[in-house]
Amino acid sequence: MASRRSLLLGGLATVGTMALSACSKSPSPASSPIGPAPTLNPAPGQNVVTKSLVAKPTTLDLGGVMVDTWAYGDAAPGPLLRATAGDMLRITLDNQLPEDTTIHWHGIRLRNVADGVPGQTQDPVRPGAAYTYEFTAPDPGTYFFHPHVGVQLDRGLYAPLIIDDPSEPGRYDAEWVVVLDDWIDGTGTTPDEVFTDLTGGQGAGMHHGNMGGMDHGSGGMAMSGKLPFGDAGDVVYPHYLINGRTPADPDVLRAKPGQRVRIRMINAGADTIFAVALGGHRMTVTATDGWAVEPVTTDALYIGMGERYDVEVTLGDGVFPLVAAPFGKAGRARALIRTGPGQAPAVDASLAELDGRVLFGTELRPTESSRLDPKDPDDHQMLHLAGQMQPYVWTINGKPFGKNSPLSLTRGTRTRLQMMNMTMMTHPMHLHGHTFALPNGLREDTVLIPPMRTIDVDFDADNPGDWMAHCHNIYHAEAGMMIALNYAT
Ligand code: C2O
Ligand code: CU
Repeated sequence: MASRRSLLLGGLATVGTMALSACSKSPSPASSPIGPAPTLNPAPGQNVVTKSLVAKPTTLDLGGVMVDTWAYGDAAPGPLLRATAGDMLRITLDNQLPEDTTIHWHGIRLRNVADGVPGQTQDPVRPGAAYTYEFTAPDPGTYFFHPHVGVQLDRGLYAPLIIDDPSEPGRYDAEWVVVLDDWIDGTGTTPDEVFTDLTGGQGAGMHHGNMGGMDHGSGGMAMSGKLPFGDAGDVVYPHYLINGRTPADPDVLRAKPGQRVRIRMINAGADTIFAVALGGHRMTVTATDGWAVEPVTTDALYIGMGERYDVEVTLGDGVFPLVAAPFGKAGRARALIRTGPGQAPAVDASLAELDGRVLFGTELRPTESSRLDPKDPDDHQMLHLAGQMQPYVWTINGKPFGKNSPLSLTRGTRTRLQMMNMTMMTHPMHLHGHTFALPNGLREDTVLIPPMRTIDVDFDADNPGDWMAHCHNIYHAEAGMMIALNYAT
């Protein structure tokens, strides 16, 4: 089998596409200015959470690894944003980056003008400019936010967004947010250079020399990679992080033995599915993408890019590794949980919990309260996912974003999206502005679709606007695996 490197070195330059933004650096049709978002006034009695964020170049210490990168402030993940369901958020973004940017509030069923898609819901925020996002966050849960421009998400530009449930009983003593990431920025390359290499950069551009791995194959080539997700990813990362820290100098989460902890996990990685386990413990999964599930206890679970899982754990006494193993890639992300004295296990100590069965999110079942009303779909739409490494183009419905036709939805219909993955990779498919239900009723906004599998998801078209559905592998999205879904009031 040819290595990916040789395929890349022999590669033809591909046509630049524009995916995450309709105004990225690639040539793109000029979109007409959209203008400022209409002001949103809080309803009587509505609480308003006001914050400002500065997107800027900075230098971060990832734990023995210094990197120049871009972040919200001087940390990655950026500052935790927290509100209560029903609150209005009024967040000002101050763009001190040398490029256009925006913020997308991933998973929030918000008004379309605040969705952060440049050229579609807003004009890009120019360097030196500011933009205020105003929206109501209707649903409790674990979310995050990131730019919707190019491959900026693969820098340090991401942060958790937690929407609390005023009626949640809170059966736990402590709560931790755990953000997973795959890190390459500032390690001799940047995500933009990685993307250039993937799309046909020549050998001279491949100074980071870490693009080894397997070919994904195109139609008919031998199945490479391994189950359950096929080929692992397109980028081999030098570091995997939990809460911005390397395994060697990890984040340490502290509690008391016997305490029950809620852990909110977010995969902010660009190209990596993780299997997560906590040494010496089983975890009870209670929510996915913010929606409650019938609790399931497991040794380990998979989490795809853009997905979030809430788990609860009763802590033992001592020091335990919380490990996120990148699927099909070498290395790991790690944090430590400390409830007592003791020596931390070695960085590469094996975890029995990772050797057994790893839960797939799609096996979970929703609680009654998380279900859509039972109803047959009145509208059927298809997303046919295709693409390959060589040339590096990923498409929906036969063409990359910008060339494929937007799906036209109808307000008030139960809409079924049939997502057919005709590739040898898994794609975490994300829908903006809505949450969908899987065939078993599970509510999510991001779902992993394994190679050559089809998943039907249903949602109510009850939030008019111009939306996106795309793969949350940010390199796939930028290479075209994205489509617009539009409907008017
Ligand atoms: Cu987090 Cu359009 O994505
Ligand atoms: Cu993908």
